[in-house]
Formats: sequence, C-alpha cells, structure tokens
Amino acid sequence: MRPPLTRIAHLRLAAHLGQGDLALDATAGNGHDTLFLARQVGPGGRVFAFDLQPTALERTRQRLREQSLLERVTLHQAGHERMKELLPGEAWGRLSAVMFNLGYLPGSDKGLVTLPETTLPALEQALAALRPGGLLSVLAYRGHPGGKEESVAVARMLKARRDLELEITESPGPILFLARKSGV
Ligand SMILES: C[S@@+](CC[C@H](N)C(=O)[O-])C[C@H]1O[C@@H](n2cnc3c(N)ncnc32)[C@H](O)[C@@H]1O
Repeated sequence: MRPPLTRIAHLRLAAHLGQGDLALDATAGNGHDTLFLARQVGPGGRVFAFDLQPTALERTRQRLREQSLLERVTLHQAGHERMKELLPGEAWGRLSAVMFNLGYLPGSDKGLVTLPETTLPALEQALAALRPGGLLSVLAYRGHPGGKEESVAVARMLKARRDLELEITESPGPILFLARKSGV
C-alpha cells in the first residue's frame, strides 16, 4: 500500500536535503513539518517557518523545544505572502526546500484556511527563494470549503511554469505537488 502523501513528501525531501541546508516551512501549523525540516538540515542548517496563528506558532515552538531544536528555526507569525520581506537577504535564492501544507490547522479554527489569493503569491516567492535544483512541496487538501478550488489554482500555476520539473501524486483526498526548480 502507498504511504500517505505527508509521508511521501517527507521521504522525497529527506533524500534531497543535506546538513547545513536552508529550508522553509510556509505553513507551520502543529509543527510536524518544521520539526522534520529542522532535523534534516542538521546543526549547521537553518529553517524559517511562517504561520498566521499564534496557536500554531506556540505548538510549533513547543514541539521544537521538546526536541531541543528550537535554535535552528526562525519562527514568523506572519502570512507566507510576506516571505520576501521577512527572509534575510542572504537566504534568498539559497533555500534547498520549501514546504506548503495547505488548509486549516488541525484541532483549531477550521474557518481559518489558506486562500489562493495569498497562496499563489507566496508560491511565486518561494520559487524565487529556492536555489537552482531546489525542491518545492505543496500538499493541498480538497475536503474543506475552497480547498478544491485552491488545489486547482495551484495546479494551474505550477503547470504554467517552464522552469519546473513537476510531479503530481493524486489521492481520493489531498493532492501532492513536488516541483524541482531547474538548474543544478
Ligand atoms: C494544514 S495546516 C499546516 C500543518 C503543518 N504543516 C504541520 O506540520 O502541522 C495549515 C496552516 O496554514 C496556516 N495559514 C493559513 N493562511 C496562512 C498564510 N497566509 N500564511 C501562513 N500560514 C497560513 C494555518 O494557520 C494553518 O496552521
């Protein structure tokens, strides 16, 4: 049986990321992906994580603290569409991986969801912030109101880009986009 899409994303990113790399979690949520990225980049690496909700940042901070990995991560309580403004200039164009896990925060307000009008600009910024050969992972849920439309908008935007190698994994629920930016 195929592993869940969250697991597939982690396996692909684990094979891609190395010690000392820079990575970004655009939707920190409960902190699972941020923690995963912090482990992969090792003590010499750095992870930047964004979320709008204080609850999400607090859960992520707690999860990282429990594993003594908080010092590897810069947490931003801000929309990922502000990535360009908030990332340090020296990290721009040098990220090895960016993760988006769209939708709502599990165990919290299901009305606060990612929206195409901010997700699409954030994806454009994430692709610019990746290094050549960097990997973008977008997991889009389709069961909540607006989720299907958002996943269609993401697919349209990524398919239109000529500088990406795009791999799409479907499931009856979410859909996973893995996009490798061209270059070495
Ligand atoms: C499905 S959850 C993320 C799960 C998370 N990756 C994890 O490992 O637990 C989606 C998150 O996106 C956040 N979010 C919604 N709009 C956002 C935005 N514009 N910028 C950053 N985060 C946003 C929500 O607050 C929510 O926590």
